[in-house]
Amino acid sequence: MDITTTVVAIPIAQLTADALIVGLHQGQDRPTGAALLVDEATNGAVGELLAAGDFAGKAGQVAVVYPRGALNTRRVVLVGLGPAERGGLETLRRAAATATARAAEVGAASVATTLHGTAVADKSRAEVTQAVVEGSLLASYRYQATRRRAPAAPRIASLLVAEDGTDPAPETEAAARRGAVMARAVWAARDLVNQPPNVANPLYLAAHARELAARTGLAVQVGDQEWAAEQSMGAFLAVARGTRNEPAFIILEHNAGRTELPTVVLVGKGVTFDSGGLSLKTRDGMIPMKSDMGGAAAVLGATQAIVELDLPVHLVALCPCVENMPDGDAYRPSDVIVASNGVSIEIHSTDAEGRMILADALVYAGRYAPDAVVDIATLTGASITALGSGVSASLFASDDELAAQLTAASESSGERVWRMPLFDEYRDTIDAKVAADIKNTGGASGGVGTAAVFLQAFTDYPWAHVDMAGMALVDAPGKKAYLTPGATGYGVRLLVEYVRGVAG
Ligand code: BES
Ligand code: MN
Ligand code: ZN
Repeated sequence: MDITTTVVAIPIAQLTADALIVGLHQGQDRPTGAALLVDEATNGAVGELLAAGDFAGKAGQVAVVYPRGALNTRRVVLVGLGPAERGGLETLRRAAATATARAAEVGAASVATTLHGTAVADKSRAEVTQAVVEGSLLASYRYQATRRRAPAAPRIASLLVAEDGTDPAPETEAAARRGAVMARAVWAARDLVNQPPNVANPLYLAAHARELAARTGLAVQVGDQEWAAEQSMGAFLAVARGTRNEPAFIILEHNAGRTELPTVVLVGKGVTFDSGGLSLKTRDGMIPMKSDMGGAAAVLGATQAIVELDLPVHLVALCPCVENMPDGDAYRPSDVIVASNGVSIEIHSTDAEGRMILADALVYAGRYAPDAVVDIATLTGASITALGSGVSASLFASDDELAAQLTAASESSGERVWRMPLFDEYRDTIDAKVAADIKNTGGASGGVGTAAVFLQAFTDYPWAHVDMAGMALVDAPGKKAYLTPGATGYGVRLLVEYVRGVAG
């Protein structure tokens, strides 16, 4: 499934496409910019819409106008951008998505957009262009892999980014390409999460990583059970014991050996299904748990984009992948498990499995002498309780600069994170009194923080943790029109923007 994205410099009157997208701000009584050009060519069709009070330019509002031969485009999709002074990249990403979805709905296959010409305070035209392409393409994602019938909603086949100059600016072309690379990486992550857990098991994720490496030149290694045992990854292996599905510890590397580049390690939780293990979840609690590899999907998607953009960083991607199931050989509450750094962990819930597999991955990350390590995981229901479902991920960081870099990436990508504290009191709650060094769960309260300080015990470098529970799946996209029902691909854009910032 692909959509060609091309930057063209053709006057609006001569553009050929099934639909042309133009934006209007709220409170504008006369059309401006591309909307004015359409208005002039059509003898006032846009002005009439405004005068009649049929279109106020509110964010999310959309109207279709038929130029009836006055343009080479059959339809013009007008989209509201909200008040000009409140517009940001996210507003445009949403508007681009809304307009593209409407164009597809009315049957347009080729779409030309002018939204990247919108001025946004403090943002370059390149940043705006990237956001517009992201919005248009992300809204066009459809899942197909395990469906026989075609998806219900139609989608576009091509996107023209229409420049008003005579030559497309090279920055616009680079930005449009970046937007397309980013969107494809998010599509890939959505596909991985949408795949059912009987298909997307650990070996499936490993095969995906190998294919990605073969296609892009990334170095790849997949550690199996035996390999993990050689690494003394007791925590990772403990979770793997309860299932017949082989575990896989995925390692991808971009720019290996380039010692002059900063080293960033991304770690993604890859629990392909989380039943809770012997600490079994409820019937309802299990329903969304195919998305418990959303962190791994985000890291794999981000890695794809980072290598395609050839960003100048030494990037290592680590995805510990397991299934968490109850079995005669499953790890049990009260077991004491020794992680690869020698720390002994008393199991209080086998449902706190994410931190177990991340513990060994974080220890492993240390061998790269990283400048920064960022892990991302659907780790705790407590993160959802704290911040809401689909509202924001929780961010924890041992390093203020790293937190600032991730917060900046969050702002430009529109993928929200909210920083939370690593208070000492949380450490006390996971202190094991008798049989081990630490426990794998704290008390009933502060669960998002106790999970974070558990992870911190396995780090000795600048480290950040993104708890993306509640962000991996969406029922109804609402105002975020670039989301599609099912997997969101959350984290890909956040991580790529972060690494782009590190690359400078
Ligand atoms: N994968 C879950 C967290 C989760 C819950 C993600 C709901 C998305 C939606 C994680 O493995 C888990 O089960 N966490 C437990 C931890 C508890 C046992 C300390 C939780 O949040 O209940
Ligand atoms: Mn769990
Ligand atoms: Zn889990």
